[in-house]
Amino acid sequence: MRPSFFALSAAAIVVLAGASAGLAQTSPPGDAVAGAAIFDDRCAICHAGPTGGQGPNLDNVLGRRAASIASFSYTPALTASGLTWTAATLNNFLTDPGKAVPGTAMIIRVPDAKERTDLIAYFASRH
Ligand code: HEC
Repeated sequence: MRPSFFALSAAAIVVLAGASAGLAQTSPPGDAVAGAAIFDDRCAICHAGPTGGQGPNLDNVLGRRAASIASFSYTPALTASGLTWTAATLNNFLTDPGKAVPGTAMIIRVPDAKERTDLIAYFASRH
């Protein structure tokens, strides 16, 4: 009896491990909760609040044209960028803003791809 019981539990563990791996594959790519924590840590100091502060407000940033908050004084560089903020353009911009838009005053880089994906999931969750 005992050996087969152990064999059974081992099989159950394999099935459970397989199921959670499957879950990880089908869940959305970014983690909005982790993204919120990153935003609070590294972005909110400039970007929180109704009018933003040192940086423009980022509510509803997905789908928005770059440099389109009328009350914020953007650099000519970002104004002339012609970008619209999508997951792809945000991903590229946040990797190295000064490279994506030379002359921008946004200087905070997010070199970690997972962190960028989490931030974008957070923006999507606030949309
Ligand atoms: C030290 C202040 C500061 C911090 C911290 C900061 N930013 Fe910015 N951000 C700015 C400024 C200033 C601009 C406007 C840039 C310009 O006009 O060229 C900007 C612009 C942006 C834009 C473009 C917004 C628009 O309306 O077109 C995005 C997106 C952005 N920041 C994302 C982030 C994210 C995500 C973080 C955190 C990882 C972050 N920023 C951290 C200052 C900051």
